[in-house]
Amino acid sequence: MSLEREIKKRRTFGIISHPDAGKTTLTEKLLLFGGAIQSAGAVKSNKIKKTATSDFMEIEKQRGISVATSVMAFNYKNVKINILDTPGHKDFAEDTYRTLTAVDSVILVIDCANGVEAQTKRLMEVCRMRNTPVIVFINKMDREGQDPFDLLDEIESTLDIKVRPLSWPIGIGSTFKGVYNMYESHLNLFNSNKTKVERDIVSIADINDPKLDECIGNDADILRENIELIEGVYDQFDEEKYKSGKLAPVFFGSALNNFGVQELLDTFINIAPFPRSRETNIRNIEPTDPKFSGFIFKIHANLDPKHRDRIAFLRICSGKFERNKFYYNVTNDKKLKFSNPTSFMAQDKSVIDEAFPGDVIGLYDSGNFKIGDTLTEGEKIEFQGIPSFSPEIFKELINKDPMKTKQLEKGIQQLTDEGVAQLFIQQPGNRKIVGTVGELQFEVIQYRLQHEYSASAEFQAKNFHKACWMTSTDENKLEDFKKRKGQYIAIDKDGNDVFLAQTAFLLQSAKDDYPEITFHTTSEFKRKQELVEK
Ligand code: G4P
Repeated sequence: MSLEREIKKRRTFGIISHPDAGKTTLTEKLLLFGGAIQSAGAVKSNKIKKTATSDFMEIEKQRGISVATSVMAFNYKNVKINILDTPGHKDFAEDTYRTLTAVDSVILVIDCANGVEAQTKRLMEVCRMRNTPVIVFINKMDREGQDPFDLLDEIESTLDIKVRPLSWPIGIGSTFKGVYNMYESHLNLFNSNKTKVERDIVSIADINDPKLDECIGNDADILRENIELIEGVYDQFDEEKYKSGKLAPVFFGSALNNFGVQELLDTFINIAPFPRSRETNIRNIEPTDPKFSGFIFKIHANLDPKHRDRIAFLRICSGKFERNKFYYNVTNDKKLKFSNPTSFMAQDKSVIDEAFPGDVIGLYDSGNFKIGDTLTEGEKIEFQGIPSFSPEIFKELINKDPMKTKQLEKGIQQLTDEGVAQLFIQQPGNRKIVGTVGELQFEVIQYRLQHEYSASAEFQAKNFHKACWMTSTDENKLEDFKKRKGQYIAIDKDGNDVFLAQTAFLLQSAKDDYPEITFHTTSEFKRKQELVEK
């Protein structure tokens, strides 16, 4: 098959949601409809339950599961679907943000009772940064929830995206009768059934079809009014606006009851984008470019503490990846070949000979990769936009066993390469400040340093509010600022200076005193800066 046909066959996406909205359930149902698994319950939730925050065995188990479910690929109606899993636990949010750089679109799951929640907002901010196309699935319609119009208003006002319903619910909770599919003009009647995958579909000529009254009785007139309102209020669905991340089509359903899932999947394969061109620091790379390129967006290390092997997840962006061929890691200037590149088909792993743009493969690695590394056939380009976000909690790593200093150095370096946390070095004394988005990470790091590197360490809380990367229109002013704030300046893993602001107030005063300096809370600024420089 030609490269172009392989590309057009692929849909690589992530499912995102606030924990408990139904991401795992929906993932499982998509696999079920896709024939990739035979029964419900086969996909284990990779979320760490709240009660298990200190249960390290649980964390280890979850790490195992999350490798197995990192990519779930299956074929559906001649389309190759790659679902990239995103951790549900908020303390692992940064992992999710990075995974979002490797997808071409997302499905956002919202609980109809809770509406837009905290984590939904953050995840959508990341999607908005790169105009990722979004389809919204409003879940749990079998339970009492908010009015659908209110939900749509909330999505538009809080997530800064226009919406267009493509299906509309008839009732909700105990009165839920099904959905009217406006995209395909049919009625999908609801039967509470968690195992059945067939659907009860009635074709409808148009909204005035008397079949509606036969099927849903008095609700038919309410539906007609609602549809009229929708047609008046919302713009027609425009595929181009969806593809540019400006308009989100909305579906209603109940993942647990397999309801509305097939519509979602069928529409998804029709409208979701196949791999598109991607930005590098030099030029845009088209997926049809015959030369292979890709980037590492996730690393899982030391799954088996006896072997220091890691799996690096590579997203292919152009050309064809081949087993046993030498590729060039632009970031560390090394040539590497891979004898066991792995693909993930639902629950099975297998060694592959080739892979195409949109695919994600696992590469066994003995410590050569860092998150964000670009692999090519030799060209010196680097994919952009694997951002670091300012951590929210900062602690200093204190070595408890001077005999194991080397192990500690290596351990913290590798764990931060893996993206578990961010490392900032402060002078004098090379102090290691570790930043994370959640407390759980510190427990994981301490545990893993001890078990995987035999290094004993503890953390001392640091009162920092944000880590800010800096750019300036006036280099002298920047130098002056760095000198004055010397004790709050640290170096990140790429050698950039970072200002560790102690409070929001002090950050604001720094901004007021130095208007020439821009303080960035994501490392994304580098990309923007380079774009401006071009
Ligand atoms: P997450 O990955 O987004 O965190 O959510 P998950 O799929 O684990 O779903 C969270 C809870 O919501 C689960 O219940 C799940 O069964 C339930 N759920 C998902 N979809 C629907 C739906 O359409 N209707 C209803 N009524 N419930 C739904 P749980 O009790 O927390 O877990 P479990 O014991 O059922 O696994």
